[in-house]
Amino acid sequence: MRTRITELFGIKHPIIQGGMHFVGFAELAAAVSNAGGLGIITGLTQQTPEKLAKEIERCRDMTDKPFGVNLTFLPSISQPPYPEYIAAICEGGVKIVETAGRSPEQYMPTLKAAGIKVIHKCTSVRHSIKAEAIGCDAVSVDGFECGGHPGEDDIPNMILLPRAADELNIPFVASGGMADARSLVASLAMGAEGMNMGTRFIATREAPVHDNVKRAILEANELDTRLVMRPLRNTERVLKNVGVDKLLEIERSKGANTKIQDIHELVAGVYPRVMVDGDMDAGAWSCGMVVGLINDIPSVKDLIDRIMTEAEALVRGRLENLLAA
Ligand SMILES: Cc1cc2nc3c(=O)[nH]c(=O)nc-3n(C[C@H](O)[C@H](O)[C@H](O)COP(=O)(O)O)c2cc1C
Repeated sequence: MRTRITELFGIKHPIIQGGMHFVGFAELAAAVSNAGGLGIITGLTQQTPEKLAKEIERCRDMTDKPFGVNLTFLPSISQPPYPEYIAAICEGGVKIVETAGRSPEQYMPTLKAAGIKVIHKCTSVRHSIKAEAIGCDAVSVDGFECGGHPGEDDIPNMILLPRAADELNIPFVASGGMADARSLVASLAMGAEGMNMGTRFIATREAPVHDNVKRAILEANELDTRLVMRPLRNTERVLKNVGVDKLLEIERSKGANTKIQDIHELVAGVYPRVMVDGDMDAGAWSCGMVVGLINDIPSVKDLIDRIMTEAEALVRGRLENLLAA
């Protein structure tokens, strides 16, 4: 399939694996890129720019296809050394960066000077328009369904995607709630040029996470995610568990006065405990409503091949037949 996104990134299929903390290591990124999609290493999971440089090298050893690095601009006071992370990306010869969180505006000149294509993840149309204005090459439009940070507007993709199509000139992919061929075809129908998946890629053979995480995704359904950190205006969609119940109880009792210190142990340092140790009740880890659509743990290649084959069947079969009828 050829879209503006496959052309922009030099990939075979319009499927991107979004950056995921403690999931987006070289193993997963390379598997996605080798399968014809765009794999993405999560920059800040590597504790230092030097470690990111090594991870990029490791990924390059595993694939000769294009892959990207995610840089998440955090709202926190103690900022990671972003210029050094960007230097590691440029020196590593990576040509695609997925930015997320705060606007990448101040880093655009450096990224562009290095010939890097920037896809910024946005949860609103106004942020998408801003991304286009500051020179981003594409946008990942992340609906309210998404795992991770859906923003504070709560607009799901059935509205957000056509709105983005009406306003943007640069290409965009649909993100949040994407799992299969139905997601891809529907996104294309709404004006997207491809799709970005997070949660779906965790339940794959190559995802380098504890089996308990994959099992939890298989067992969960679309009712099992929760929104945490709403009182802090840093909303995150996570999988419910004992730690998340505790967190929500604290938020309920403190209301608008909730401070990050009140919930710190249930949101900070949780990822290695979940993803590496398999401690599923440790606290908040991102997970999308799309868990309700995930029922197997295929290889990344089987997943992507299945999506592309079924997408073609959907268009040439079901949709054509409806027109012919
Ligand atoms: C476990 C997990 C960790 C994530 N970590 C990050 C991150 O560090 N940076 C980021 O930009 N997005 C992160 N995301 C969001 C994904 O890149 C993607 O936008 C999102 O998962 C899409 O929604 P979906 O899960 O419904 O596919 C994370 C998502 C998950 C599920």
